[in-house]
Amino acid sequence: MTAAQHPTVWLTGLSGAGKTSIALALAQALKAQGRAVALLDGDQLRHGLNRDLGFTPQDRHENIRRTAEVARLMNAAGLTVIAAFISPYRADRAMAADIIGAAHFIEVHVSTPLAECEARDPKGLYAKARAGQIAQFTGVSAPYEAPLSPALSLDTGVLALQESVERLCRHLQQRL
Ligand code: PPS
Ligand code: MG
Repeated sequence: MTAAQHPTVWLTGLSGAGKTSIALALAQALKAQGRAVALLDGDQLRHGLNRDLGFTPQDRHENIRRTAEVARLMNAAGLTVIAAFISPYRADRAMAADIIGAAHFIEVHVSTPLAECEARDPKGLYAKARAGQIAQFTGVSAPYEAPLSPALSLDTGVLALQESVERLCRHLQQRL
């Protein structure tokens, strides 16, 4: 088995776009195929490894750098990694690809539009951001730079969760 068979699926997109839901469902599907899978979710890592980081551009950069280093180690240990991070800056995602290795890095844009994410507002964060209670909120008061050539684009406003997972599984199978 070549190293690239243990890739990192990097899910980037706005808060509320569906990154975590896709990551969980994909992890389940890949485990059912017999793959060893590790999940790295921005929201969760910010309670532990990255608890010292906020949402300035510098802190987001460091968040992505640490995560990419962990993903690299996990890939090397034989795990397929699913990383779910807003990762709003192109330069930071390019850094992640460099650290993880281009052959292992699969950039997936969870491209659900801002209006849909804001209508869902599952954690009430958009309302707070609009009210000025959260600074530097992605899509409201901080930028999101969409990928220019992602391996896949998945708009969860249009695609059922299972369809997104099937597209991801097909893509992973094709690149073996
Ligand atoms: S980043 O940009 O990649 O460093 O962000 P990430 O580590 O993925 O963390 C995103 C989660 O943090 C919550 N949150 C915020 N998001 C964006 N901007 C601001 N200011 C902010 N404050 C808190 C939010 O719950 C994100 O979770 P998801 O799952 O993306 O909704
Ligand atoms: Mg999430």
